[in-house]
Amino acid sequence: AAAPLIDPFQRAITYLRISVTDRCDLRCVYCMSEDMNFLPKRDLLSLEELDRLCAVFIGRGVRKLRITGGEPLVRRDIMHLFRRLSRHLGTGALEELTMTTNGTQLGRFAPELADLGVRRVNVSLDTLDPDKFRAVTRRGDLKVVLDGIAAARKAGIKVKINAVALKGVNEDEIADMIAWAHGDDMDMTLIEVMPLGEIEGDRTDQFLPLSVARARLESRYTMIPLPDRTGGPARYVRIAETGGRLGFITPLTHNFCESCNRVRLTCTGQLYMCLGQEDAADLRAALRASPDDALVTQAVIDAIARKPKGHDFVIERARPAAVPRHMSVTGG
Ligand code: GTP
Ligand code: 5AD
Ligand code: SF4
Repeated sequence: AAAPLIDPFQRAITYLRISVTDRCDLRCVYCMSEDMNFLPKRDLLSLEELDRLCAVFIGRGVRKLRITGGEPLVRRDIMHLFRRLSRHLGTGALEELTMTTNGTQLGRFAPELADLGVRRVNVSLDTLDPDKFRAVTRRGDLKVVLDGIAAARKAGIKVKINAVALKGVNEDEIADMIAWAHGDDMDMTLIEVMPLGEIEGDRTDQFLPLSVARARLESRYTMIPLPDRTGGPARYVRIAETGGRLGFITPLTHNFCESCNRVRLTCTGQLYMCLGQEDAADLRAALRASPDDALVTQAVIDAIARKPKGHDFVIERARPAAVPRHMSVTGG
């Protein structure tokens, strides 16, 4: 078999996140500004090109694909890509095909996703209060997302709830959200706000360190540390009172880059080796330069050889974002 992808810090790259669109039907206040300049559609890789790139990565040892965005389910004909990618599950070359979504379109797509072998999805949901949900997303309807989650469950897809911890917004609600998620047999992960792309507010006003949230949760819950099992950045505990799992994604208060196993592909074919760094490799050019995969394979190998050690995020008043692009470009 071809050599696997190993970066300069001896980390094996087995996880590819693919942002299939930078667009979204919501405008979460920590993620986007109200007026976003989205990429022109002509710059996007076609679904065939995305499929071809994924096959190159799988040939080099990538075992987990996560489709993200923006909101992946607003990309036109996205199920065509899932159909293509699911063949790698059939051959056993791919261990997991999954997605991170805001849940608004799950009602429509859950049954087909389940048929194609998507066994779990992560749904971004920061609050269970309909008014707060509208305020955070600027345009979302909580009921639609809850119905989407129910549809996924009904189709047999496991759901993990991702909530960004937001000062003054959901901090007093986190314990109840955990009880809700765990009561419905869903894992939950808390995420620290990261300084990616310019937004209307100042992220200092939004940032709630998870060390603080965790200390508060300990007055209600007993946390039993668990070894990581999903291959993502979260560190997990089991909550004794609910029996469910709670993850903490803490790029600001506890850097987890030393165990990084992933790279990110944007919808225009740029490969970002780190969420928090500017360097990217133009795989679209390599892809279009030749129908033979040798060139693009070499471009991938060269890119991995310059994967940086990690991010250097800081959240401070009036400090510009660590990188100019929003999370929706690289898919988190
Ligand atoms: P699991 O497969 O369920 O472990 O998911 P995951 O945590 O890999 O993916 P998900 O899309 O649910 O990511 C949750 C959050 O973690 C998102 O906000 C991502 O931006 C963030 N995240 C994922 N990978 C990284 C990373 O390498 N660095 C940083 N700083 N954040 C990351
Ligand atoms: N910091 C932290 N999380 C973010 N997300 C989007 N923007 C940010 C940010 N600046 C989250 C979304 C979603 C995931 C993919 O990233 O809520 O759960
Ligand atoms: Fe859309 Fe997700 Fe960003 Fe919210 S966080 S605006 S749902 S991409």
